[in-house]
Amino acid sequence: MEFSSKYGPWAVVTGASAGLGADYCRQLAERGLNLVLVARRREQLETLAAELQSAHKVECRVLALDLLAENAVAEIRDAVSDLEVGLLVNNAGFGWKGSFLEGGAERFRDMIRLNCEVPTLLSYELMPAMVKRGRGGMLMLASTAAFQPTPFFSVYGATKGYDLLLGEALNEEFRGSGVDVLTVCPGSTETEFHGIAGTESTFPNMADPVDVVRKSLDLLGKRMTFVHGFKNSMLVAGNRVAPRSMVAKVSARVIKKVLKN
Ligand SMILES: NC(=O)c1ccc[n+]([C@@H]2O[C@H](COP(=O)([O-])OP(=O)(O)OC[C@H]3O[C@@H](n4cnc5c(N)ncnc54)[C@H](OP(=O)(O)O)[C@@H]3O)[C@@H](O)[C@H]2O)c1
Repeated sequence: MEFSSKYGPWAVVTGASAGLGADYCRQLAERGLNLVLVARRREQLETLAAELQSAHKVECRVLALDLLAENAVAEIRDAVSDLEVGLLVNNAGFGWKGSFLEGGAERFRDMIRLNCEVPTLLSYELMPAMVKRGRGGMLMLASTAAFQPTPFFSVYGATKGYDLLLGEALNEEFRGSGVDVLTVCPGSTETEFHGIAGTESTFPNMADPVDVVRKSLDLLGKRMTFVHGFKNSMLVAGNRVAPRSMVAKVSARVIKKVLKN
């Protein structure tokens, strides 16, 4: 079945104003899907929506909102209640690197809410209609940080571990329903993420978000989990068999080095 027939006519993308989310919007529009673009920065969303409407003749709806607001998920649900949403991209997220004791309670609460609670509840609201129709999909943005303890990046890694396990569980739970779930695990990718996490320009050879997005969309419906890049896949495979205490030590060393730079 053609991508747009299987996952259209509308896709909801959270974190659509920048980075991977903006590229998901571009490539989904190329594949013929109409888009609901969700993030806080209205101007970026409106500029992108105008670009996609003119380049691909798709329809776009801009939802400029803070996903950390109490009623954000209900607001999205209500704003798309008249649309046939066939794809949800749970992409909005942020991280912070540093010592656990210096992270700040508010930052940790926001991170857990944005990275875990929001994708869980948004999936809970939008996926029943897909199951009822017998077709649709959901992408869950986890990370290569999800596969091991990440000292000095501890809360972020733990939130991504949650996303990985939730996405993989839902992949199995929806098997046979016509609704596909893919958990996407990028390694270090060139977006605004690293500036916000406090580690800008510290990773050499960052991945191109366009490539991460293209490969993940190609694999939706074919796999449970996608780890981007050969090197990352090898690291993840190694982490799965090595003793966890050793993995935690190596991980701490790598992240400390990044922080020092
Ligand atoms: N880049 C990487 O190296 C990397 C690696 C592995 C996994 N990931 C994951 O990939 C996903 C996308 O990250 P990215 O790299 O594209 O990051 P990014 O460039 O920083 O983009 C994050 C997006 O999330 C939105 N967002 C952040 N807080 C929000 C809030 N409170 N309410 C609504 N929207 C909010 C931002 O828009 P506004 O600021 O306009 O709200 C932006 O559109 C994340 O889940 C991240 O964990 C990234």
